[in-house]
Amino acid sequence: MTLIEQIRDKARKAGKRIVLPESKDGRMLMAANYLAEHKICKPILIGNAVDITRAAEEQNLILRDDITIIEPKVWKKNELYAQHLYERRRNKGLTIDAARELVLNELFFAAEMLVHNDADGCVAGAVNTTGDVLRAGIQVIGLKAGSTVVSSTFLMTMPDGNVFTYGDCAVVPYPDSNQLASIAIDSSRTHQKLTGEKARTAMLSFSTKGSAVHEKTQLVTAATAIARETASDLEIDGELQFDAALLPAIGQKKAPESSVAGNANVFIFPNLDAGNIGYKITERLAGAVATGPIIQGLAKPMNDLSRGCSWQDIVNTAAVSALQAE
Ligand code: ACO
Repeated sequence: MTLIEQIRDKARKAGKRIVLPESKDGRMLMAANYLAEHKICKPILIGNAVDITRAAEEQNLILRDDITIIEPKVWKKNELYAQHLYERRRNKGLTIDAARELVLNELFFAAEMLVHNDADGCVAGAVNTTGDVLRAGIQVIGLKAGSTVVSSTFLMTMPDGNVFTYGDCAVVPYPDSNQLASIAIDSSRTHQKLTGEKARTAMLSFSTKGSAVHEKTQLVTAATAIARETASDLEIDGELQFDAALLPAIGQKKAPESSVAGNANVFIFPNLDAGNIGYKITERLAGAVATGPIIQGLAKPMNDLSRGCSWQDIVNTAAVSALQAE
């Protein structure tokens, strides 16, 4: 079984409710039908039932009747959602009237559903930008306990079946040491939850254990110390160059005392330039399959898609969200 088949299988057992707020998009409707038919999760669509059914018909789809559709304008919890949003954002100048209007936005509505336990996870971004999806998550749901920043990972499945986790490749442009530590801890836990493997996490740099000294290597060293102190149950080490982290012979030579060096399966990049370039190089030159970005650090799973995604990507991301919700 491939990793994604295993994730779909585990999601089936979890039985979670996943909201797909961009509900008139043809790929979302295909995914909703597939998710319901294969019982990967219980999909929820957002909008007017007549409009959504018409959108499905235009795609030659007959929407399954076990899919829940919720229309924001007439939803019984609207006022509760608006009050919650108002309380969270009033210090930023949001008025209650503006909050009442904003919760009708599909992304904010979906995020409020998660907060009020009306859904377990959300998948969006087939229509909206990454920034819009993240802003709704950050403003409505907020950080989970112990995280200082919302970030992301990619699961990189290599041609030989090995799976590595890369973080952060999609959200935080230039993390400080506290943020980098939070990214390392969250990426390690994401790896463990989604692969079932123990994480061995390398904090990447252009230096290994002091071979170069620069403010950028010191940022990684400081982040490593914070992560190790905050999450002593995890195996995190740095700073390490990529080859020292990956290859046993080089790890042994450059960092012989490290249990992570030469043995890492989670790689934490020092900034978004390195992470984003790194995952695309792995994808294009090594033939890896990238699953993600998987958003982490939010108190409830709200995941983002590329606007070029396929309906199968939506199915997979819904399955990932269901596991994160456990
Ligand atoms: N985690 C937690 N809170 C955050 C984060 C974060 N990563 N980023 C911003 N915030 C908070 C700020 O603290 C601030 O909070 P406040 O309003 O309570 O004071 C608020 O969000 C607004 O902060 P801004 O700096 O103005 O952030 P903005 O809203 O402009 O953007 C966002 C935040 C959406 C996360 C932005 O960093 C972003 O778009 N990141 C994605 C980068 C990107 O485009 N990646 C593309 C690659 S994707 C790919 O390749 C698959």
